[in-house]
Amino acid sequence: MTATEPAERHVVVLAAGRGTRMKSTQPKVLHRLAGFSLIEHVLRAADPLGAASTIVVVGHRAEAVEAALNGSRPGIRLVHQEQQLGTAHALLQAEVPLRGARGSVIVLSGDTPLIRTRTIEALVEAHERAGSAATMLTGEVERPYGYGRVVRHGGRFERVVEETDATDAERAIREVNCGVYAFDGAPLFAGLHRIEAAGPKRERYLPGILQAYREQGLGVGTLAAADLGEVSGINSQSQLAEAGSVMRQRKNEELMAMGVTIIDPATAYIDVDVEVGADTVIHPNVILEGRTRIGERCVLHAGVRITNTTLGDGVTVLDHSLIGGSTVADDAKIGPFAHVRPVTTIGAGARVGNFVELKQTSLGARAKAGHLSYVGDADVGEDANVGAGTITCNYDGKQKHRTTIEPDVFVGSGTALVAPVTLGKGAYVGAGSAITEDVPPAALAIARSRQVNKPGRAGEIRTRKK
Ligand code: UD1
Ligand code: CA
Repeated sequence: MTATEPAERHVVVLAAGRGTRMKSTQPKVLHRLAGFSLIEHVLRAADPLGAASTIVVVGHRAEAVEAALNGSRPGIRLVHQEQQLGTAHALLQAEVPLRGARGSVIVLSGDTPLIRTRTIEALVEAHERAGSAATMLTGEVERPYGYGRVVRHGGRFERVVEETDATDAERAIREVNCGVYAFDGAPLFAGLHRIEAAGPKRERYLPGILQAYREQGLGVGTLAAADLGEVSGINSQSQLAEAGSVMRQRKNEELMAMGVTIIDPATAYIDVDVEVGADTVIHPNVILEGRTRIGERCVLHAGVRITNTTLGDGVTVLDHSLIGGSTVADDAKIGPFAHVRPVTTIGAGARVGNFVELKQTSLGARAKAGHLSYVGDADVGEDANVGAGTITCNYDGKQKHRTTIEPDVFVGSGTALVAPVTLGKGAYVGAGSAITEDVPPAALAIARSRQVNKPGRAGEIRTRKK
């Protein structure tokens, strides 16, 4: 490498471990937080580094991790660690793809989802500036239990000792190894080959290379993480929940800084990629998931859950409504207790009321379905009114059929629309109808049996019942 050439950077993520302490059949790194798996969070933090290559070491339930990453990250290189013999052995599996690589090898753990790009950058910069053989990220934590402790002598880094191998005095050390490292690629693999198994599980510990380097007189550096929350590795369900709360807090802070009102940030559950416009108000227990975008000046009332959906500006969603995979235009009003299922589009100023379920339906601008209805596989035109209790009978037991309600149609309450059926523009359907045939534009359709009144019979029935 010449002085003018920037150092090449490679990223290796260790993700072969079993995650025994999670007590779960799922591989640890596939557990989810705020919309992404743990490993995806780590990879996202590394993305801006622009690494020349990114390698993930998989092992325990490799096929599941592989399937998850193949879907989201085609550019990644996977290497297999057949037996989980420790973190040093895991990194060794990247030897073949990194053979001949120059520059820095950045090692991340698949179970540290809170790590930030700027922290990894600071680590790599400090590492490259000092020209060290290895640099390790450390952090002072309140409860160091479970972490490798950083043993220093006269302030100088000496070695890392794992929880199971530490003496009582060493266990009291609060400076821990965060499992994030930058290595000079040149001596790395020869060094890893020399690490021997240690500890009760006879594992080959990655931090062991730092001690070996130091003993050989190679440069070993440490960098203290600025943000303590970031360094937590997830080993248990309880730590997973804790990390979730840190991640949500970050997201909420970011949104509030952009003008979003969150009434109670402790109960706002907003995935990391969700966008929310200024002056939108988020009431308690609102869940916004996946690729959801909420416009400006919306009001999301308590208990609303919105997944992979786009909301325009000025939309109100009343309490306990569920909206998924749909698009809602400006100033629409939804809920309370509405269920909007994929793939639905709701027009500007439209109204979806209490206990209304929509599925694969388009509701035109200003159209209304106010109460107790099921509107599925339907196209509802502008300004149409779908009366209380209207049901689209879209399923004949075998197939789904569509219902078309053209603009300005009025559907009386308690109507069954037996699909396929079309109600022409401006048509009017009498309440309680079972519509089985198309209604021409501007026509009145009544499809119910006539009422019979029998004078005096009410009294007769009452006497009989006594
Ligand atoms: C590790 C460090 C510890 C540090 C802590 C930070 C070692 C020996 N210890 O401990 O000093 O404080 O991280 O969170 O490195 N993995 C493999 N193959 C293996 C073993 C592990 O790929 O054979 C992967 C795991 O999937 C995980 C990462 O390496 O993503 C760390 O392994 P884990 O078992 O969680 O190490 P800790 O005990 O937390
Ligand atoms: Ca860990």
